[in-house]
Amino acid sequence: MKMTSTLTLTYKLSQNVGIRALSDQSTDLRKVLADKIPKEQERIKNFRKSHGATKVGEVTVDMMYGGMRGIKGLVWEPSVLDPEEGIRFRGKSIPECQKALPKAAGGAEPLPEGLFWLLITGDVPTDAQAKALSKEWAARSALPAHVTKALNDFPKHLHPMSQFSAAITLLNSESEFVKAYTGGVHKSKYWETVYEDSMNLIAKLPVVAATIYRNLYKGGKGIGSVDAGKDWSHNFSLMLGYDNPQFIELMRLYLTIHSDHEGGNVSAHTTHLVGSALSDPYLSFAAGMNGLAGPLHGLANQEVLVWLQKLRQQVGDNPSDEKLKDFIWNTLKSGQVVPGYGHAVLRKTDPRYTCQREFALKHLPDDSLFKLVSQVYKVVPPILLETGKVKNPWPNVDAHSGVLLQYYGMKEMNYYTVLFGVSRALGVLANLVWARALGLPIERPKSLSTDLLMKAVKAA
Ligand SMILES: CC(C)(COP(=O)(O)OP(=O)(O)OC[C@H]1O[C@@H](n2cnc3c(N)ncnc32)[C@H](O)[C@@H]1OP(=O)(O)O)[C@@H](O)C(=O)NCCC(=O)NCCS
Repeated sequence: MKMTSTLTLTYKLSQNVGIRALSDQSTDLRKVLADKIPKEQERIKNFRKSHGATKVGEVTVDMMYGGMRGIKGLVWEPSVLDPEEGIRFRGKSIPECQKALPKAAGGAEPLPEGLFWLLITGDVPTDAQAKALSKEWAARSALPAHVTKALNDFPKHLHPMSQFSAAITLLNSESEFVKAYTGGVHKSKYWETVYEDSMNLIAKLPVVAATIYRNLYKGGKGIGSVDAGKDWSHNFSLMLGYDNPQFIELMRLYLTIHSDHEGGNVSAHTTHLVGSALSDPYLSFAAGMNGLAGPLHGLANQEVLVWLQKLRQQVGDNPSDEKLKDFIWNTLKSGQVVPGYGHAVLRKTDPRYTCQREFALKHLPDDSLFKLVSQVYKVVPPILLETGKVKNPWPNVDAHSGVLLQYYGMKEMNYYTVLFGVSRALGVLANLVWARALGLPIERPKSLSTDLLMKAVKAA
């Protein structure tokens, strides 16, 4: 009986936090990784030795012309996206992460610090480990003077995402990886300075992002400073100028759920690709951000709000379903996409949409824009299905984030993708550290011309 209850307890513990060795309780993330990396290198070496030549898929002509959709061509450790159930961070769904990850005192949403720990180590962290990251990021958050100056000198008409990506590129003056590489460091140690750069970059991103926001929309005043006693999202919210506890909770959720979406999406793949040339984490991540700035990717969260505003102007706040349908068909007939709907991999409603909807149902159920977004959710999918070509008629993450930000007073929709970018650093940089730790080579897939492809098909 005693044995059964011990087993049950052990099982429950392993479900919640994973069974950890004492060393896994360390709050020193670099040490934890240094312990894990040789074991993972060994595991993969053995796997490749036995199965390196095993086929895991095939490539058709349509895949080559179709944006490489469905080609299994990348290894990405932090997360995997299932078409039906959505993202799993190291095997955990969003609701599971919301339950298992450490929270701020009195908070209900997960801390992005905890998610980063999970993404990079594969383990759910303890409260102490998440707190240690809050402290460490606060300590690493200062910007070099030349970056602050550049941010303050950017013209006001420069899009926030261009400012964000440019400032991240400029930060490479601080790269530890560049110093080590120039100094002739052995390749087995690349991951160590990639880790340092990644931690520094993540720590500095809220300051960069808040400076852009304050400069563009608040006359350059009141950015404040990072408080080592507060978590990453709390500091970020205050620097942006928002002290409403609900907004701070929203930021924790927002920065958690936008972090990673496996490796093939544009921002993740770009960061990975550029990093494979041994460009440092600043240059690699800035490249990824230039991809996130595209309207079919991260800029869609801005586009959703622009579209909703047009919709409101044309059909009012409480349109009938019929009026809404006409507006949607007009969008499609004019050759545009319905922003916030569809996905290259997902085939169901995005769980990142669902958890934001749940946040809205809890905190702003009567908001008129939320009601409109809910009505759009009902009306859009059957229309997209009726077109006969859209593979996924359901909403993605971008269909819901803007309405929440609007509710708490962040009305500047041109800025929304920067928030997405701050969060995306967590996933793509966690992977970058592993890419160097595993010694992955420069990426170089083979391309063919149409003539050569036709020849290859004929020969086959
Ligand atoms: C996300 C997205 C780029 C995926 O593209 P994809 O994998 O090529 O999607 P599909 O295979 O379903 O595309 C098939 C067709 O349906 C169209 N389609 C897909 N989603 C659509 C949408 N939301 N509205 C209108 N048309 C859409 C495509 O443009 C394509 O048309 P085409 O054959 O005339 O070129 C696409 O769904 C889209 O543009 N969505 C709106 C932008 C958005 O929300 N982006 C954020 C994604 S997280």
